[in-house]
Amino acid sequence: MGVGGVPAPGGSPLKALIRMRLRFLLALLTGLALLTWGASLAVTSTARAWSDRELALRAQLAADSTRRAILASWRAGDHAPVRDVLADMSRDERIMGAAACAADGRRVVSTAEYPVSLACAGLARRLETTAGHRWHGVETVPGGNVHVSALPVGDEEGTVGFVVVVQDMTFAERREAWIGRVLLFAFAILSAAAALVTMLAQRLSWRGWTAELRRLLDGARDREEPTEFQPLMQDVRALVDRLGDAQAEVPSGSWSAARLRNVLHRHLRDERLVVVANREPYIHERTESGIRLVHPASGLVTALEPVMRACSGVWVAHGSGSADRITADAHGEIRVPPGEESYVLHRVWLTREEEKGYYYGFANEGLWPLCHIAYTRPAFRHADWEQYRKVNQRFAEAACEAADSEDPVVLVQDYHFALVPRLVRERLPRATILSFWHIPWPNAEQFGVCPWRDELLDGMLGSSILGFQTQRHCQNFIDGVDRYLEARIDRENAAVVQGPGTTLVRPYPISIEWPARWMDGLPPVDECRRAVRAELGLDPGTLLGLGVDRLDYTKGIEERLLAVERLLERYPRYRERFVFVQIAAPSRTEIERYRQLSERVHGIAERINSRFGGPRYRPVILLPTHHEPPSVFRHYRAADFCYVSSLDDGMNLVAKEFVAARDDEAGVLVLSHFTGAARELAQALVVNPYDIEQASAALATALEMPPREQRERMRAMRALVSEFNVYRWAGRILVDAARVRGRERLNGRLMPRAAAAGNGGRAAWAAASRRGA
Ligand code: G6P
Repeated sequence: MGVGGVPAPGGSPLKALIRMRLRFLLALLTGLALLTWGASLAVTSTARAWSDRELALRAQLAADSTRRAILASWRAGDHAPVRDVLADMSRDERIMGAAACAADGRRVVSTAEYPVSLACAGLARRLETTAGHRWHGVETVPGGNVHVSALPVGDEEGTVGFVVVVQDMTFAERREAWIGRVLLFAFAILSAAAALVTMLAQRLSWRGWTAELRRLLDGARDREEPTEFQPLMQDVRALVDRLGDAQAEVPSGSWSAARLRNVLHRHLRDERLVVVANREPYIHERTESGIRLVHPASGLVTALEPVMRACSGVWVAHGSGSADRITADAHGEIRVPPGEESYVLHRVWLTREEEKGYYYGFANEGLWPLCHIAYTRPAFRHADWEQYRKVNQRFAEAACEAADSEDPVVLVQDYHFALVPRLVRERLPRATILSFWHIPWPNAEQFGVCPWRDELLDGMLGSSILGFQTQRHCQNFIDGVDRYLEARIDRENAAVVQGPGTTLVRPYPISIEWPARWMDGLPPVDECRRAVRAELGLDPGTLLGLGVDRLDYTKGIEERLLAVERLLERYPRYRERFVFVQIAAPSRTEIERYRQLSERVHGIAERINSRFGGPRYRPVILLPTHHEPPSVFRHYRAADFCYVSSLDDGMNLVAKEFVAARDDEAGVLVLSHFTGAARELAQALVVNPYDIEQASAALATALEMPPREQRERMRAMRALVSEFNVYRWAGRILVDAARVRGRERLNGRLMPRAAAAGNGGRAAWAAASRRGA
């Protein structure tokens, strides 16, 4: 074990427990064997002592009974009667022989079986050592051991000598051996029985423990706190973490909606997901021809919508469409997608003022430029912050109301809702809150200019897991917490510990659904090429470059057009033959900076068109309107290359969508180095979008690339995106969530009650720390 009861690296608590059991069993058996051996030794020596005493007594009796008969004749020197008496004595089957010896060690008479080697002289000396009383002992003669007794013969007048009685010992030895065997056998049986009983008892208690542990892991909450775990609390937690880690390994292989559903079923017991995301996946707009359903141009929606269709649940979003109210019920709810109705869209209504302060103001004029390195200054206004706080509170309440249990799984999305995790945590202490920040997270200095940086960090730390697109963004976040908050950073586990609450900080690079549903029913690539060129009034052989974005200054659209301009300057052969189409969905148009961008982009396009265009040729075609996904996918399929030139981008899903659209394995992706996607799509032509020379050369390379090379690159990228699709992204987060959930339940049950309230404890702690306690 390491410090504080945490298992040392390489060992596991489970293995340690098994080792402990084996050691105990070994010690028990050794102990029992030693006990058996010791006991049999004691019993054998006791039996030997009994035998010796019995033999000595028998010899004494025999000698006593003959004494009178032989004394007179012996004293008279008549030895024949002495021999006869001794012969009589030897008739006893246990007495082998007898002899009469003079006190000076001469043999007087002996029976026929008396062992010759037992000299009277030697026995006389032994008698001397007992002051002439009597001597008993064991002697070895040819044929084995014998019991020898030398017993003086005499009366008041004096001693005439001594009688030697020799007894067979084989009987005593056989008896001792038999007793030893019986004892050994009895002890062996006893030992086995003891070992069995011990093992059974241990197994039963082990089973009880593991059942309890399993029950805790399963999150059962309806029983008393298991006090037997108290002393082992830390070890058990470490064990649970390790078991959880092993279970939480997300296997590779192909991920689909069905597999994601299965993960939800297996790991989260079909828990209903509550998503909090500003942008709604389906917007109802009133038009002159009736109500139109719009799929917004949003990376977040692109990624999350397939996940919700697979998992079901509730998506809490801002109802921003002009026909949203009339299409929703009295609670602002509507089942989507139309025709499938697999989850609920819960619309939150915002006033103009709230939208202005929260969405346009703090989120998009404050946080958006703060988090992106695009050299646009953030604007922080107190009035916007107040709206942001208020709206976050509204969404947190809506999320809690959408939850159908005290410990729901809540997925909080993006920079619009940095305060929601803490607000939900305070209301539902046992919730599992997963927050995902779709955009970059700046370094600590950059983030430090926000007047409400501490509140934002604290709000986000209400999460159980906080996800970013890349490891670098995770690191930036942790550095920021380290610098501005009082919290412990657990760098080994990439976690922030505040009081009893822990937030894991993890990279989860987001992706798209695979296969993309927008591909269903699309014509083959050749047909898309022809149709799109025809719609744009271009010759069928025109080389086509494509850009698809919201009209946003972080996307590097100006730099992109400058690269197109430079391409036409440097390589005149493309004039009249090459056209760049930019789909630019209007975005955040109420913000001045976006309006300026739109003007500048239009200005650059006009300049390029007037420089290189003619009556029938416009090298840049701007399509500044919203395009529904099937139309975007047709353009992807029609293009020779797609240029993603973001100046800073968490991931950029346009790059991945382009790859998904090219089932013909043709077309080239030119990709900014400053996107999260560039870390995965290594076969793209990766460029620095600020370097106009380099970017224009890459565009030329893309236009010249032989079909074989295009195929090789596209095939590799398609393999990657198909494997690392959005189902896998969501699967990883949900499996981690299940792990955290299991651990929090266990900790909640294992911690002393005072500290236990889990994140409820954290909420109390947070409240206390705000009061300055
Ligand atoms: C980025 C953000 C998303 C947002 C999207 C569209 O991708 O990360 O959260 O949905 O931009 O922005 P919008 O303001 O139109 O929702």
